[in-house]
Amino acid sequence: MANIKNELDNDRFIDRKTFLRLASFGIVAAFMALWSIMTAKSKLLSEQPLVSRINTAKLGTGIFLFEKYILVKSESSIKVFSNKCTHAGCRINQEIDGQLICPCHGSRYDSSTGNVLQGPAGLPLSTIPFTADIKTGEITIKI
Ligand code: FES
Repeated sequence: MANIKNELDNDRFIDRKTFLRLASFGIVAAFMALWSIMTAKSKLLSEQPLVSRINTAKLGTGIFLFEKYILVKSESSIKVFSNKCTHAGCRINQEIDGQLICPCHGSRYDSSTGNVLQGPAGLPLSTIPFTADIKTGEITIKI
């Protein structure tokens, strides 16, 4: 009678080793699923362009250093340049007398054209296209 009961117990229950294997497999599978969801979401966010809207009517004229770009506004034109130095990619964060200066190795760019005035950078700053609403003076920049 006891042998029959043990056999029944063995059929209904899994042993501890099997249980731990299944539990480990479930935890790993759940972690992998969570990881793939998180990486897919962050990839989606990083691929979305940064959109910036600025009301240039309120801005006045001058050179404006923003987090991701440089806006140069005169009485007759607006230009938007990347603030990424073409030498090694440092962020340009200084302007003196119309020259945009890279803090890393001292490259200087003409703020009205983006052309290199002093190396080591060899290429001009890239321009960033934008759209303008003439009625409101608002420009939209997609980076
Ligand atoms: S990264 Fe700007 S000068 Fe080197």
